[in-house]
Amino acid sequence: MSQPSTIHLKDYLPPAFLIDQVELDVDLHLENTRVVSRLHLRRNPQRPEPGLPLELHGQELTLHSIQVNGAPFSDYQLTESGITLHHLPDQAVLETQVEISPAQNTALEGLYISGGHFCTQCEAEGFRRITYYLDRPDVLARFRTRISADAARYPVLLSNGNLIEQGQLEGGRHFVCWEDPFPKPAYLFALVGGQLHAVKDQFTTLSGRKVALELWVEEENLHKGQHALTSLKKAMQWDETVYGREYDLDIYMIVAVNDFNMGAMENKGLNIFNSACVLADPKSATDRAFHRVESVVAHEYFHNWSGNRVTCRDWFQLSLKEGFTVFRDQQFSADQHSAAVERIQNVALLRTAQFAEDAGPTAHPVRPESYIEINNFYTLTIYEKGAEIVRMLAELLGWPTFRRGSDLYFERFDGQAVTIEDFVACMAEVSGQDLSQFMRWYHQAGTPQLRVERHYDPAARTFTLTLHQQTPPTPGQSDKQPLLIPVKLGLLDAQGQDLPLILKGEALGDETVIHLREASQSWVFEQLDAAPLPSLLRGFSAPVKLDYPRTDAELALQLTQDSDGFNRWEAGQKLALNAIDALIQQQQQGQDLQLHPSLVSAFAALLQDHQDPMMLAELLQLPSEAYIAEQYACVDIDAIHIARDYARKMLATRFYDAFLALYQRFDLQAPWSAEPEQLAARQLKNTCLAYLVATESEAAFTLAQQQFEQADNMTDQLAALTALAHAEDPAQGQAALRAFEQRWQQDALVMDSWFSVQVTRPYADALDRLHQLKTHPAFSMKNPNKVRALLGAFCQQNPSRFHRRDGAGYAALADAVIELNQLNPQIAARLVLPLTRHQRMDDHRKAQMKAELQRIQDQPLSPDVYEVVSKALA
Ligand code: PHE
Ligand code: ZN
Repeated sequence: MSQPSTIHLKDYLPPAFLIDQVELDVDLHLENTRVVSRLHLRRNPQRPEPGLPLELHGQELTLHSIQVNGAPFSDYQLTESGITLHHLPDQAVLETQVEISPAQNTALEGLYISGGHFCTQCEAEGFRRITYYLDRPDVLARFRTRISADAARYPVLLSNGNLIEQGQLEGGRHFVCWEDPFPKPAYLFALVGGQLHAVKDQFTTLSGRKVALELWVEEENLHKGQHALTSLKKAMQWDETVYGREYDLDIYMIVAVNDFNMGAMENKGLNIFNSACVLADPKSATDRAFHRVESVVAHEYFHNWSGNRVTCRDWFQLSLKEGFTVFRDQQFSADQHSAAVERIQNVALLRTAQFAEDAGPTAHPVRPESYIEINNFYTLTIYEKGAEIVRMLAELLGWPTFRRGSDLYFERFDGQAVTIEDFVACMAEVSGQDLSQFMRWYHQAGTPQLRVERHYDPAARTFTLTLHQQTPPTPGQSDKQPLLIPVKLGLLDAQGQDLPLILKGEALGDETVIHLREASQSWVFEQLDAAPLPSLLRGFSAPVKLDYPRTDAELALQLTQDSDGFNRWEAGQKLALNAIDALIQQQQQGQDLQLHPSLVSAFAALLQDHQDPMMLAELLQLPSEAYIAEQYACVDIDAIHIARDYARKMLATRFYDAFLALYQRFDLQAPWSAEPEQLAARQLKNTCLAYLVATESEAAFTLAQQQFEQADNMTDQLAALTALAHAEDPAQGQAALRAFEQRWQQDALVMDSWFSVQVTRPYADALDRLHQLKTHPAFSMKNPNKVRALLGAFCQQNPSRFHRRDGAGYAALADAVIELNQLNPQIAARLVLPLTRHQRMDDHRKAQMKAELQRIQDQPLSPDVYEVVSKALA
């Protein structure tokens, strides 16, 4: 097989032609859909070289005819990636007719079938599977789309923009015409056809325009649609208030589909969503799922400005829209819920999964220099680290200035395809700040490490804080330059109260942000009568690893007193990490395990204060095995699992009565509601339940069983099911698992949870369950949600079983990747990632992981899987 080629940012050139208008005519048939496209082309003044050919992308298309300005055209060649047309006039209408087969499309890119409905996915490069086109984000065109289909089977036909015409055709067929007045790149095109039903609503914009809101779902899911519409209206209102951004079309549609590679897609005026990110009702969806729906609906809505009105010049700029939009959706969620808890959860994801990515073979800068397959770059680095960079900009500029920069960006570049530099230049312009050093955040991969030194001088009454920064080498980037790192901080007195900050005689209040620019830099705080305790990196003000040794007493003080909610949690995590580290060492040295008393006293203190139950539920959470593993250069998977499990069980036993009391106190016995108090109560109650059941006591099992039977909502039901199914004795969960399956077998989304619960059982039989469940009638390798629920959950959320010593976990993953490589390369390339994280494993496991990667590499591979596997073996 020929090696797929690499695309480089430095090779970027504007296209030879521009497309002003597209007329598409799509005649829908399962096996042979006919697409006629008329492209209104003109030469691009930015490419004055005479006689440049037009190179259109096309994939899996059967070409029937080509005409230029109404006459047959033959001066073209078919190439591996499309078609090259020579000697075109400077202006032309190019008409092509092609045939495609949606029913054969298992990659779920382009036009495909999900649940009997036609739907599309065009980002990043799916439009070329629909017709020949300049499938690149810097070509913006007006689209007019005519769709025809069988009227009985596909009564609803949707595309972007406004409905302008519809009618009946012969043979039981019908047609509709949609016109989108906003020029857009092809990746924002969408088309849907099916037997769908709408939940409808309306929104009046700031300037008084009425927008029709429509959520299209299968009939049996109509009752699961209200939450998404409510969330949409909140998001529309929020973007007006906070960013001054108003919606621009008269209609906003969302369609739910069951087979979708990602979470959702921001197509202009016609979002297409994975049903897991849009459908929710209390009976079948957990509070987490409700939250996910709200944040994904908001995310896609916010793209209408950050992504659609202003889009990316090329795919190297992907974080321009994704980083900014994730930042915006995080701000939105922080405004709807507890800001501290939102921040904690976002950082927890970043520090486990994104930091691991940044330390592995697929590490890449937020603005990459090259790629083989762009689908592989929809990563936590582009999204989450990208959002952290925007957050730092907002922090550096201050909100009002950042907001002015955002206004300038939207105004200046409306209707254009731009770069990350364009965005940052707006921020530099409105603030007058020199952001050239800051740009390194976009160019350098790897997680910077921040080392802290502190020195108190009693005679001078000064405290010197010294910070050292260093970014480790990553593939292709051995030398790193110092970054501009904003460090938000306060100084605590012995009671944990914030001290006034005085730097060079200037009083800065209780809290300030210092800017670390050098490899090492010091700050001298004045007029301090005793050594203060610095509370550093408040709110996680930069995506770095903080190496900041503190005593247990200092951590305990921060845990209970720090005015920054994030740093309270962080201190607790650090205490737990220290205690677990001690257990790991005891385990490795064959000693009896002894839980360090400082963690026990921390829990004792925490359990006395339940003023903020949502926060308390977070504070009581031990760091995940994945985050613990992040702390070590060489990971001892088994010791980590044993140590964490021991800590959890010891705390559960020691505080059984306190957990039970809290459980009872927050078991509200009221009918379900989404009120914040109830959300918090459920969260805390179920955290307590997990601890109670960890003692494996009869009483706790009975409590879980009761909760399972009596719950009127999925949050409580699933928490109880998980507690039972994760008991050491597999018999404990059996009845509940069966009952749950009986009750929910018709609900695909609930069955996803049922699959995940079983394969995340932290015991030896988890892999056997996985093998059994692969043959369950509700499982399908063709459905990405199912693949994620079963294989993804096992490999990512059950580390001790995935990494079983005999290598059977790795083999199971490799088998699945080989199978999926044929069906759905994009999902295959994501699924394989846990196998690529072998650098820090012991030699035995490292060798096994590489052997499985090699076994995959020996197959004929899609570019997607090839890129990931070859980087992991390099
Ligand atoms: N652009 C989508 C989002 O983040 C994600 C996506 C990418 C969906 C590629 C499908 C395909 O909102
Ligand atoms: Zn997005």
